[in-house]
Amino acid sequence: MGTPVILDCDPGHDDAIAILLAAADPAVDLLAITTVAGNQTLDKTTLNARRVCTVAGITGVPIAAGCAGPLSGPLRVAADVHGESGLDGPAFGPPTVEVVGEHAVELIHRVLATHPEPVTLVPTGPLTNIATLLGRYPGDAARIREIVLMGGSTGRGNVRPYAEFNILTDPEAAAAVLGGGVPVTFCGLNVTHQALVTPEVVARFTGLSELGRVCAELMTFFGATYRRIWGFPAPPLHDPVAVARVIDPDLVWCVEAYVEIELRGEHTRGATVVDLHSYLGRPANARVATTLDVPGFWDRVIAAVSRLSSR
Ligand code: RIB
Ligand code: CA
Repeated sequence: MGTPVILDCDPGHDDAIAILLAAADPAVDLLAITTVAGNQTLDKTTLNARRVCTVAGITGVPIAAGCAGPLSGPLRVAADVHGESGLDGPAFGPPTVEVVGEHAVELIHRVLATHPEPVTLVPTGPLTNIATLLGRYPGDAARIREIVLMGGSTGRGNVRPYAEFNILTDPEAAAAVLGGGVPVTFCGLNVTHQALVTPEVVARFTGLSELGRVCAELMTFFGATYRRIWGFPAPPLHDPVAVARVIDPDLVWCVEAYVEIELRGEHTRGATVVDLHSYLGRPANARVATTLDVPGFWDRVIAAVSRLSSR
């Protein structure tokens, strides 16, 4: 049996592939998918999670909608990156996978209370749901094995000079999660930018029947965005890197470091301040991903989509 995981996401093109990887890799036992506002509004990210599960034939994994905006301040979506739907590119039919009636925080709380062993949380969007859970149910920290998130960076940001989207969207939530008493691993831009969807990777997706072609269409849209906005030759597939870390720690190498979330900086709010060289003399409080086994990563992603395609 794989590692029990709850994926908390804001689909989002890269979240979509993270769902496929988490649902199909045998090293993961995907217990639930929860959605949060981020790349798009909550109604859209939730619809997109349903769309992905429908097209991939993922059934039996409860989907619950969570928080519709950050703990404080306005929600700023990323329509420029993911489109008005949040999952522009392919044409999706009506979803057949429904959401459960519970709020995401309540679903996570219930799963943590009933699952026979501690559960790994994999947030790939803003951390609003996870911070709300830890604030409302502090005792749940003991039921969480670790939090392996996509967010932050040891270097520059992607929506501000020093801030990455997931953390900047809700910096207070990120700070609460970091201080919530659960081991946290950051898979930041410094490592996710190693997961580039090259034409060779797109060709591997395309060869995987209908679901593979949907993935290829998603990556084609995502690639056009990254070329237009950032001049990237190929788009980085951020979110599946966090799932890959749970699947096999040898795929995503990490170091221990002291990390702070900048909340007050006039020009740096939302930055993950990662003290890689112990300049501050503070003990490490997080794991920080630094290196991706790129071939091994893509082999796992393609194998997962292939498994779903043959269902
Ligand atoms: O900065 C990249 C992150 O923000 C990814 O998780 C992407 O899906 C968006 O949520
Ligand atoms: Ca995301």
